[in-house]
Amino acid sequence: MTPNVIDGKLVAEDVVAIVKDATAKLVAKTGVVPGIAVVIVGEDPASQVYVRSKGKKAHDCGFHSETYTMPADTAEADLLAKVADLNADPAIHGILVQLPLPKHIDEGKIIQAIDPGKDVDGFHFINVGMLGTGEIDKAFIPCTPAGSMVLIRRALGKSDLSGLTAVVVGRSNIVGKPMANLLLAANATVTIAHSRTPDLPALARTADILVAAVGRPEMIKGDWVKPGACVIDVGINRIDAPEKGEGKTRLVGDVAYDSAATNAGSITPVPGGVGPMTIAMLMANTLASACREAGVDAPSY
Ligand code: GUN
Repeated sequence: MTPNVIDGKLVAEDVVAIVKDATAKLVAKTGVVPGIAVVIVGEDPASQVYVRSKGKKAHDCGFHSETYTMPADTAEADLLAKVADLNADPAIHGILVQLPLPKHIDEGKIIQAIDPGKDVDGFHFINVGMLGTGEIDKAFIPCTPAGSMVLIRRALGKSDLSGLTAVVVGRSNIVGKPMANLLLAANATVTIAHSRTPDLPALARTADILVAAVGRPEMIKGDWVKPGACVIDVGINRIDAPEKGEGKTRLVGDVAYDSAATNAGSITPVPGGVGPMTIAMLMANTLASACREAGVDAPSY
């Protein structure tokens, strides 16, 4: 079987184009300009790259964008004060505090200090709870699972997943659990599998939709994939690639792509699958927040 290779870069570009168009209309109609603030503490190079690309994408969408870089030894109280300022700032509709934070800062405390109405990461208990109770339209949905759902809907050509079996491998708060809740809200029959699940290959083979979010390079083998399944690989793992030369590395997902692609009906590559969707959905969440304030419907994707 030759699978449909899901082009996340193309879908992300389409989402951003919709956001950009809706932003221009929102500004023209109401004067409300979506505003996003990204806060980074410390100098982790990977985090700095992410934060820069978020700022750039926000600018492309026509948003007001602010980035705050705070030193690695910032006191927790000072970060809480920054969050309080942003909560109170009417120009800001979305707040993202880049994770991980330095060890001396309690991440949970910072996340819960963000106004849930500006929590575009969807990590606040209020948003987690709304997703868990099926209030999808009111909640902010974490960006990676939200983007994965867009890819699934477009790959399968439908948003009602009634009659389909979904297996999510991985139970993180950021991906696995919200992903399972989204699939459930779309009427799929959902199982969450994890490191203690017996006979994972057999369970995975029952899945019409298989989502891998474990962070283990190429753990999910081709013969774990049901023929025709939609395979969504959330993993991004850097591994040694001696075949490319000494000291070289390459990116792989949690799925052994080449063998899985022989069974799958549709599959996301790594890189270029789920990855590009995350920032696109952050823009979508920020626009949704601004639309909510302005009393205007947000677009769907
Ligand atoms: N670090 C890596 N991914 C994310 C994310 O989605 N949100 C935040 N806040 N930090 C991250």
